[in-house]
Amino acid sequence: MAKGKKTVFFCQNCGYESGKWMGQCPGCHEWNTFVEETVEAKSLSKSGKRTSAPANPVTLKEIDIREDARKSSGIGELDRVLGGGIVSGSLVLVGGDPGIGKSTLLLQVCRNLAKQQIKVLYISGEESLRQIKLRANRIGEFQDTLTLLCETNLMTIKETIERLRPETVIIDSIQTMFHEDITSAPGSVSQVRESTNVLMQIAKGLGITIFIVGHVTKEGNVAGPRVLEHMVDTVLYFEGDRHASYRILRAVKNRFGSTNEIGVFEMKQTGLEEVPNPSEYLLSGRPENASGSVVACSMEGTRSILVEIQALVCQSNLGIPRRTAVGTDFNRVNLLMAVLEKKVGLHLSQSDAYVNIAGGMKMTEPAIDLGICLAIVSSYKDVVIPDSVMAFGEIGLSGEVRAVSMAQQRVKEAKKLGFETVILPKVCESAIDKEEGIRLVYVGTIREAITWMLHGEKK
Ligand SMILES: Nc1ncnc2c1ncn2[C@@H]1O[C@H](COP(=O)(O)OP(=O)(O)OP(=O)(O)O)[C@@H](O)[C@H]1O
Ligand SMILES: [Mg+2]
Repeated sequence: MAKGKKTVFFCQNCGYESGKWMGQCPGCHEWNTFVEETVEAKSLSKSGKRTSAPANPVTLKEIDIREDARKSSGIGELDRVLGGGIVSGSLVLVGGDPGIGKSTLLLQVCRNLAKQQIKVLYISGEESLRQIKLRANRIGEFQDTLTLLCETNLMTIKETIERLRPETVIIDSIQTMFHEDITSAPGSVSQVRESTNVLMQIAKGLGITIFIVGHVTKEGNVAGPRVLEHMVDTVLYFEGDRHASYRILRAVKNRFGSTNEIGVFEMKQTGLEEVPNPSEYLLSGRPENASGSVVACSMEGTRSILVEIQALVCQSNLGIPRRTAVGTDFNRVNLLMAVLEKKVGLHLSQSDAYVNIAGGMKMTEPAIDLGICLAIVSSYKDVVIPDSVMAFGEIGLSGEVRAVSMAQQRVKEAKKLGFETVILPKVCESAIDKEEGIRLVYVGTIREAITWMLHGEKK
């Protein structure tokens, strides 16, 4: 082997580096994921001294921030997830399942940016120009400030960007790009890492915003190394139910904004369309007068989202009852059922229980605890909770209903959607102003909430 080159084994799942091959990765405990890759040993110059020039640090005052540091992508939901718009010179990674709509979303961004006379370069390593054109035809008219390129060689891409100087570049996808100096196959850890490194230098050096598409593994992580997530400024995940047409864009990491925000889209013939009021969308098609169904409220970033929680509790035929939770934490559901058993005296230990967040949303905020409990009790007792009732609150292990943040905003959302009654924690009473036209039922314990549900006003 040539001098200066050495081989290292990388876990293709998590990027763990090892000098020798191993059957199981100590990092992520996956089996048979180590692949040998050649790495270039960084050598000093012949004289043994570093060749780079000394650097000149500057003071904060000397750094000038341009006013137009953020520009709108023309898609409100995406701007919200990015923290208020696209930051120039940033590196954004968009990950998601195959076919979820990553290329569609980015092509729509290209269209909107091109409309503002911003020079955009879309580089695809996966699809031919004809395929992109087919998708573009579906989306709409495009301005001539958008240019397309099918290329996978990163050095060619670098030269092209330096020559054309576009303001925004899309790389679809990082797993197809390769760096000539690295011998391992495209998509391997060293390739992905080195390619991202080159893109990062371009983004920071020339102030170009680069969007990178990344594939995800079956566990839902960006394929290849985790290191990729550390290198970029923002990591967005596109998720959604295979069977539903809506998609959720979530920020997992954001150096320029909050990470709690989500954007909701619907996949249509003409591309992804924003869903400005997700609660309305998620609650449509709710069953009427059915037991085991309650509306709960969860905060996703600065936005409150109402969802229907469904529970089905029935007599078990097995020694160990079956429990499932779809869209929420399974262990949390078990915990809440234990609280109902011990603190309320419901005999759930002989019952199968299935809990589902309708619409395929995934929610883990503890504020939906009260909703889950009421849905379980409603199904167990076969009592219908009126459609006009919404509930939120965290349940503690001793059966108390604990305070949750932003209670006022949740009540406002319920009122906006025409709910008449909200069941909420007693401790939130001082934090809430009187709202006209909506009844607020404050409960201190889960038992109180159930009593209200079964007997109405007479406690
Ligand atoms: N005519 C159409 N009407 C509605 N939806 C469509 C239509 N054509 C394609 N789609 C949707 O677009 C999706 C493909 O989008 P896109 O190619 O952007 O996904 P992607 O995330 O880039 O996929 P990949 O991982 O393969 O690159 C399809 O799964 C489908 O849901
Ligand atoms: Mg694609």
